[in-house]
Amino acid sequence: MTVQYPSNFLWGAATASYQIEGAWNEDGKGESIWDRYSHTPGKVENGDTGDVACDHYHRWPEDIALMRQLGIKAYRFSVSWPRVLPLGKGRVNLAGLDFYDRLVDVLLAANIEPFITLHHWDYPQALYDSDGWTNRDNLAYFADYSVLMVKRLGDRIRRWTTFNEPGVIAWCGYMNGEHAPGLRDPKKFVQVTHNLMVAHGLSVQAMRAANPAIEVGIVLSQWGLDPASDDPADVTATEHAWNSGDTAFLHPIFAGHYHPEMVDQLNGSEPEIKSGDMALIAQKLDFLGVNSYSRGVISATQGRLERIPGSEYTEMGWEVCAPALRRLLVKLNKDYHLPPVYITENGSAFKDEVTPDGKVHDERRLDYLRQHFTEVRKAMQEGVDIRGYFVWSLLDNFEWAYGYGKRFGLIHVDFETQKRIFKDSAYWYNRVIATNIVD
Ligand code: FCB
Repeated sequence: MTVQYPSNFLWGAATASYQIEGAWNEDGKGESIWDRYSHTPGKVENGDTGDVACDHYHRWPEDIALMRQLGIKAYRFSVSWPRVLPLGKGRVNLAGLDFYDRLVDVLLAANIEPFITLHHWDYPQALYDSDGWTNRDNLAYFADYSVLMVKRLGDRIRRWTTFNEPGVIAWCGYMNGEHAPGLRDPKKFVQVTHNLMVAHGLSVQAMRAANPAIEVGIVLSQWGLDPASDDPADVTATEHAWNSGDTAFLHPIFAGHYHPEMVDQLNGSEPEIKSGDMALIAQKLDFLGVNSYSRGVISATQGRLERIPGSEYTEMGWEVCAPALRRLLVKLNKDYHLPPVYITENGSAFKDEVTPDGKVHDERRLDYLRQHFTEVRKAMQEGVDIRGYFVWSLLDNFEWAYGYGKRFGLIHVDFETQKRIFKDSAYWYNRVIATNIVD
């Protein structure tokens, strides 16, 4: 089967600052909550930290040369907030701004569109020390930081996203404690979930005022949900799981209020919502970024199933199920009449090996991508306005609580020597981009 994509389809790859930059305390950068967390013994597997990561802060010219060789048309990256504002507010670190400025210029010279994320989890430790996202007074600092970046780069970057996966920030950072700052506090979790949305709204408003020419969006993590069987009880349980959990950001942004089933579930422990919040959150967006890797399967009697017999799983323990991505996109579009969509992350971690002749035959990743690309094309044919696709990730990198143990890259990184090697999936992706065809 041959699948053809529109000629202007934006093929890209994605990274995030803490996962690749390293240079955690160089040139005036401030501390982030991920620096603090990874330096705390027992938090990250194997004691890994992002201190050096892919050393991208020093090797970025080489990395842009690799992007060029890969042929990507766009590169999604994030800015380290404490690199440009060491305390999260106030004094600007010019060396940090210069770093992103040069990066953007060289990307543009290589004909690669920079697609920027303002916050991909490396929150300034100094703001956290004044109660972080739970403190309402801190929310405006995110808007100030957004404007600082727009003023500096808005003449050259068209597409801006506020947050990467606010749901993961709130859930893993404040509820299950698996990410920085590592809290398990249901009350804070609920308030942070709402406050992140308020910060998003403030940022959207401030960025548009600073530069009306830019396009603004957000990146949400959304996995499809399927019922374990056709049994009406499973179907109802799945709908309830979706409505009460997975709509947490979609509904306020696109419907202007929290889903009633979610509110019911909070059962008295609702966040504090100030007047005007919901209108701020529901400002029209120019696009939506969707990160999706797998799906959930729900049974009325057993809840979310761990393992589906016969399914393939990645190293993350995530089921490979490409049709679920198509169904998800079609459902989102039906429920919310989406603006243009970018798949801002999709990819897979597998155990890669470098062969003695220096190759990485990552057949399973290649297959994963082929299936997901194909299903996304089908979603487009079913009416979803999908404009681009960013593979996670350009490089193997620091996979949060898993450290360097999980490899998602199109490009293999030897973390001892920093040598980069194109995996087979990268050569394959290069041909897809060049032809706009998936075979
Ligand atoms: C997403 C994150 C990204 C990466 C992938 C595997 O949730 O946005 O940084 O870790 O998962």
